[in-house]
This record gives sequence, C-alpha cells and structure tokens, in this order.
Amino acid sequence: MNQKASHLVLSLLFLFSSTAALSLPPAEQNAAYSVLETINPYVNWRDLYPDDLCISAPHGFLCDFFPIPSSCNSTSSNLTCTASSTSNHITELNFGYLSDYTSNPTCNFTSSNSTSLFALFSSFPFLRKLFFFNCFTSRSSYTALPPNLFSLLPSTLEDLVLINNPSLSGEIEMDASSLPLKRLVISGTAISGEIPLLPSTLQQLVLSRNSIYGQIPPSISRCTNLNILDLSYNRLTGSMPDQLTQLGNLIKLDLSFNRINGRIPDTVSGLKKLELLDLSFNQLTGGIPTGMGEMVGLKEVYLSWNRIGGQIPEIWEKMGGNLVGIGFSGLGLNGNIPASMGTYLKKLCFLALDNNLLEGPVPVQLRELESTANEVNLEKNQLHGPVPFSADFVVRLGSKLKLGGNRGLCQVGPTGSKKGSLEMLPECNATEVPRPVVISNFSSGEENGKEVLWVLVLLLGLLVV
Ligand SMILES: *[C@@H]1O[C@H](CO)[C@@H](O)[C@H](O)[C@H]1NC(C)=O
Ligand SMILES: *[C@@H]1O[C@H](CO)[C@@H](O)[C@H](O)[C@H]1NC(C)=O
Ligand SMILES: *[C@@H]1O[C@H](CO)[C@@H](O)[C@H](O)[C@H]1NC(C)=O
Ligand SMILES: *[C@@H]1O[C@H](CO)[C@@H](O)[C@H](O)[C@H]1NC(C)=O
Ligand SMILES: *[C@@H]1O[C@H](CO)[C@@H](O)[C@H](O)[C@H]1NC(C)=O
Ligand SMILES: *[C@@H]1O[C@H](CO)[C@@H](O)[C@H](O)[C@H]1NC(C)=O
Repeated sequence: MNQKASHLVLSLLFLFSSTAALSLPPAEQNAAYSVLETINPYVNWRDLYPDDLCISAPHGFLCDFFPIPSSCNSTSSNLTCTASSTSNHITELNFGYLSDYTSNPTCNFTSSNSTSLFALFSSFPFLRKLFFFNCFTSRSSYTALPPNLFSLLPSTLEDLVLINNPSLSGEIEMDASSLPLKRLVISGTAISGEIPLLPSTLQQLVLSRNSIYGQIPPSISRCTNLNILDLSYNRLTGSMPDQLTQLGNLIKLDLSFNRINGRIPDTVSGLKKLELLDLSFNQLTGGIPTGMGEMVGLKEVYLSWNRIGGQIPEIWEKMGGNLVGIGFSGLGLNGNIPASMGTYLKKLCFLALDNNLLEGPVPVQLRELESTANEVNLEKNQLHGPVPFSADFVVRLGSKLKLGGNRGLCQVGPTGSKKGSLEMLPECNATEVPRPVVISNFSSGEENGKEVLWVLVLLLGLLVV
C-alpha cells in the first residue's frame, strides 16, 4: 500500500468515526419526528428525512457538538479514566414560514390544546432556541399556550421567540425565572396575562402586540442585562416604576400604545445608553422631566399623545447632539418653542410639536435645522409671527413642512412666491418682520417660459402665413 492509499484509508476511517460520533441520540431523533408530526401531520417527515437529523434535516433544525470531558475516578488505590469524546444534539428548532429562502417546516397545527406539543420539547436536553413564526395562524380556531409553558420547556432554553402567531392565545405563565432566557419574544399573538417574573439573564424582552395587562413589575430591575424592552401595543396600566430606570444597559425602551399613567420618572436620566424612548399613546402626565437632558445617547424620543402638559424644557444642550427624531405631538404643551432646539439639535431629521398649545414666534434659530430636517410639523398650535424657514427648505420639504392651524403665522417675501405649506399663510406686516428673509423669485422662471411661448406662437403664425 502506498502512502496516498494509506492516507485515504485513514481519512475514510476518520470520516467514519467522526460521523459515528455525530449521530443524534435516538431519543432526540424520535422526539424530533414527533414534533414535526404534531406541527404538521400532513407531511411524511420520516420518509422525507430518513437519515440522522443532524446530517439531513428540514431548514431550521440546528445541531451542535457537546464535548463529554474525560473523567477520572479514583477508587481507593486505582485511577480509572474515560476518554473525552463529543456527542451531537439539537440546539435550535425553528418553525413556520419566514421566507422562500428559509423554508422552515410549515405548520398545520389547529388543536386548541398545545400542551402535548410544548411538552415534547423537554426531550431536547440541549435546546437553546425555539422559534415559531407565522405558525399559529388559523382564522377559525385558537390554540392556547400551556398554562405551565416555562415549566415544560427544557432548562437550557435561551431564546423563546413567538412572532406573528395571531391564533395563539392563553395566558403567560407567571414565572419564567427558572429558564436561562436571554431573549423572550412574544409578539403579534392573542396571548394575554401579566408580565411574568423574569430571569436576570434576560437581554431582550419583546411582548409587543398582544393583550398583556397589569402593571410593569418593579422586579424587572433584576434584569440588569436588558438592552431591549418593548411592551408596545398591549393593555398595560399603572405607572412607570422607578425601578425601570435602573436598567442602565437599555438601548431601546418602547411602551407605546398602552394605558400607562403617572409621570415619567426624573430618574429616567439613569438610562445613559438609551437610544430610543417611545412612550407615545399612553396617559402620562406631569411634564417632560428635565432629567431627560442627561440622556446623551438618545437618538429618538417619542412622547406623542399623552397628557404630559407643561413647557418644553431647556434640555437640549447635552442631549441634542445625537437626536434625530422628536415626537411631542398632542401633549398639551404650552409656552414657547425654545430657541435652543435650533442651536443644539445638530442631527435632527424629524420634529413634531403639533397639536399643542405652543405660542409665541417660531424662533429664527430653528432655521439651523434646515440642513438635516426632513419633516417638521408645527400644526395646530397658537404660534404667531413670521415663519423663519428659507424658501429652498420650504420647497424641499413640501407637504412634510406643516404649519397650518396657527392663526398668527405669516410669511415674508413677495406675493407670488408662496410655495408648499406657506401657500395658506398671510403676508407678514412690515412691522412684524424682525429679520426679513429673501425668498427667491419663483415667478421669474414662469416669465421666461411665457417669453418662449410667445416666440413659438409668432413662429407658427409666420409658418401659417
Ligand atoms: C467512581 O467509582 C465508584 C465505584 O465504581 C462509583 O460508585 C462512583 O459513582 C464513581 N464516581 C464518579 C464520579 O464516576
Ligand atoms: C486495581 O487494579 C488492579 C490491576 O488492574 C486490580 O488487580 C485491582 O483489583 C484493582 N483494585 C481496585 C481496588 O479496584
Ligand atoms: C393543512 O391541513 C388541512 C386539513 O386540516 C389540509 O387540507 C391542508 O392540505 C394542510 N396544508 C398543508 C400546507 O399541509
Ligand atoms: C390539554 O392537554 C393536557 C394533556 O395533553 C391535559 O392535561 C389538559 O387538561 C388539557 N387542557 C385542556 C384545557 O383541555
Ligand atoms: C397686518 O395688519 C393689519 C392691520 O393692522 C391686520 O388687520 C392684520 O391682521 C395684520 N396681519 C398679520 C398677519 O398680523
Ligand atoms: C420677480 O420677477 C419679476 C418678473 O421678472 C420682477 O418684476 C420682480 O421685480 C422680481 N422680484 C424680485 C423680488 O426679484
């Protein structure tokens, strides 16, 4: 036997031994078939995937090696050791239609009781992720979550993701703290119940678009690793607990579209890493906290449609540098628009201050927003005086510059140059113009056009003659 041949034999041997080591334990293989058959009994899964499911499985099945370390045991005088090896286990199960390119097993599960389905997952002692997308979608019947969901799932689970499952109903079990969850995402379901007791390992909690009720539990402060907290579009009541502001690693906090009342705690300033704060469409009161001015990482702040009231505070100097979006619509805000908003908001794209009780002039400093702003809404306030924006800006924004519903606003510049949102505004009186803005002459282009037209008519006339 030459060297090449022996090498081949060796590598074949290696391949054989490594595939042997790969094999999924029969209990897991059978449990996987049972899950598939439960989720969709109309597919013959055993014929479709007859081999080891870690080698050939539907999309969405993931396996991983787990080393079995060498272990030694000294009994009296003798030392006996077992060699280290690896074994293969299912670590991820993904179900439901995601896209044509990720054809996870399609679901056809219509039973109203999902207890036996979820109980099957305890047969995967290395499962880290369980994912259902567009899986429970029946229009005619609901499938209830098991009341003891978290107790049924394997104690290794880190990701539980249930997205767009409109026929999934039932209540969330009150205690999820026994699982080492990093991500708990339940979104777009008919699930109700209260926010459960959560494990401190959690990094993402998304419970948006369900029917979750009750209050945000103060115990949420255990989850110091949380960076995403999205509880939007539910029926949450009560106030924002102070403990919420101890979550110093939060990057996104979205509580919009609930019934949360009370004030925004001034300690919100503790959320130093927060980039998105959305509290819009709630019943918050008590003014915009000045503590917000310390939130230097904030990129977007949406408080619209609450009963917050008070004035717009002078909070922009430190926090203004990163802000791209401000939604302060329908808050019952009074007083003036601070000139500092123009001075410090260097990156602002979106500004909504509409449907408030703001009065006084639009500060000329807001003109500094022109280089970045794409949408400015000052509609339905009590603002007066000249609009400070340049004609170029007015034209660029078009209908995304909203100034209507302010009886006192007026425009400077010659008649005939009214464009976009300025069209409806009256001319400012001369005495009212502190800093006249030259608006370029739009009519000159039309005049030129007319001249060309006259020349054409003349030429035509000559031809006819
Ligand atoms: C070590 O060996 C003894 C006797 O065979 C056995 O009872 C014990 O469980 C072993 N310990 C470990 C850690 O394997
Ligand atoms: C230790 O190993 C020796 C040789 O393998 C064997 O004869 C002896 O019975 C062993 N003793 C114990 C306590 O297991
Ligand atoms: C789903 O189940 C129904 C019977 O309840 C069957 O008629 C249909 O073909 C199944 N759909 C798929 C995609 O398996
Ligand atoms: C759902 O099924 C489990 C067993 O599979 C059973 O113990 C439980 O009572 C059932 N729940 C309902 C509401 O029927
Ligand atoms: C301009 O002055 C006239 C007369 O003083 C007044 O009727 C009108 O309301 C003023 N226009 C604006 C926009 O303030
Ligand atoms: C605007 O253009 C018209 C016609 O070309 C001209 O009569 C008028 O003086 C111009 N106005 C300004 C402010 O340039």
